Amino acid sequence: MPNLENRVAIITGAASGIGLACAVRYAAEGAIVVGLDKNTSAEWAAVEAQAAQSRFHQVDVTDAAAQNAAVADTVREFGRIDILLTAAGVGAGGPVGMLEEADWDRVIDINLKGTFLSVKAVLETMSAQRSGSIITIASVEGINGTEGGSAYNASKGGVVLLSKNIAMDYGRLGIRCNAICPGFIDTPMLHEVMGLMPELKADVIRETKVGRLGRPEEIAGAAYFLASDDASYVTGHALVVDGGYTAGHSHGIVQMLGLV
Ligand SMILES: NC(=O)c1ccc[n+]([C@@H]2O[C@H](COP(=O)([O-])OP(=O)(O)OC[C@H]3O[C@@H](n4cnc5c(N)ncnc54)[C@H](O)[C@@H]3O)[C@@H](O)[C@H]2O)c1
Repeated sequence: MPNLENRVAIITGAASGIGLACAVRYAAEGAIVVGLDKNTSAEWAAVEAQAAQSRFHQVDVTDAAAQNAAVADTVREFGRIDILLTAAGVGAGGPVGMLEEADWDRVIDINLKGTFLSVKAVLETMSAQRSGSIITIASVEGINGTEGGSAYNASKGGVVLLSKNIAMDYGRLGIRCNAICPGFIDTPMLHEVMGLMPELKADVIRETKVGRLGRPEEIAGAAYFLASDDASYVTGHALVVDGGYTAGHSHGIVQMLGLV
């Protein structure tokens, strides 16, 4: 029997990249997946192919009323919410002195406030059930600073601590909350960033100890574990999935010694 059989999972940012890969994985594990995204995606068909009951709502996560309505539809139709995964997000930034206030607001609104609104939308249902697993997609940039990171660093650092706070406040109501901190994952968002800075890819791969970018499916694997009963005692954790990017700095010593 699939491990997420008949679990109801809401995923934001489900039209692309990491959110889509998590939707496909959850559907393959037997879940009913409800995708929320401001954009539609032809690739959502891959989720429906696995789980015919799955639904998609075109919703902006900064729009609390629209998001609440999609969640209410889900509860009306399926009667419960077992999993929330928040992957809706945008990348943007620049050094503080060069960043427009409107760009700061946009990144914080989508990445941090959007996460808050998504969680707020499901808490009543999960609390009444006395069960639920919330998984937020933060970033290694929510743990360490990055050059030009400003708004993105602040938003993802906020997501990490918000996730720990939710774990503390709602644990006794049967709700677990964990953040995943991906490294550099091969998605449209990363392509956009690397399009602006072509030299970034080689630099990232040099610092990533397994020597390559991550695949969205590798984040979905961690998201599956955190959603499953195998993680029943895991909460308040920020799980780094980065191919060793943050393990430490490389200085080329293993290459010099001929190890690799
Ligand atoms: N790709 C990486 O290297 C990487 C690394 C660390 C963290 N992340 C995080 O992972 C998450 C997913 O990113 P991705 O790389 O898959 O990018 P992506 O651009 O492929 O997917 C992001 C999705 O979020 C949706 N979205 C954006 N703003 C939205 C809004 N206001 N309301 C609803 N949906 C919205 C987009 O339409 C898109 O479908 C993001 O939170 C991102 O910050 C990505």
